[in-house]
Amino acid sequence: MDTKKELIAGLNEDLSYELAAIHQYIYNASVISGMSRLTLRDFFIKEAKEEMEHAIYLAEKIASLGEEPTATAKPIQRTKDVKGMLRASILAEVDTIHRYTKRIEMAEKANEIELKLRLEDMLAEETKHKEEMERLMADSRL
Ligand SMILES: [Fe+2]
Ligand SMILES: [Fe+2]
Repeated sequence: MDTKKELIAGLNEDLSYELAAIHQYIYNASVISGMSRLTLRDFFIKEAKEEMEHAIYLAEKIASLGEEPTATAKPIQRTKDVKGMLRASILAEVDTIHRYTKRIEMAEKANEIELKLRLEDMLAEETKHKEEMERLMADSRL
């Protein structure tokens, strides 16, 4: 596979994880109950919206590069336990941070500079998601 084909295949993989992240955060927001619901429901909805922005960007970029954007999302973790929910979402964010780090290098090699810059912004946002959830996990009441 040439550099560009490989890059687009990678972007489609990223898109399937972003679609999963939207599903995951909507699921989390819908099932969360107890006192945690007061704060975490809105937090998860906000995350879902940010992941949707990522998915829209990736889908449009893939189409602009001449390929078909995937409509298939990766599976999500179904748990109603708040700590388990946060733990699974932190791991998913870490995985995404690794994929974007790799994708940034690939975009640079393919001379797709706008893509590289946008992926850097997305990497920063995923890092923020991860760090916010790590701090939420530190709550002794959970
Ligand atoms: Fe994302
Ligand atoms: Fe995220």
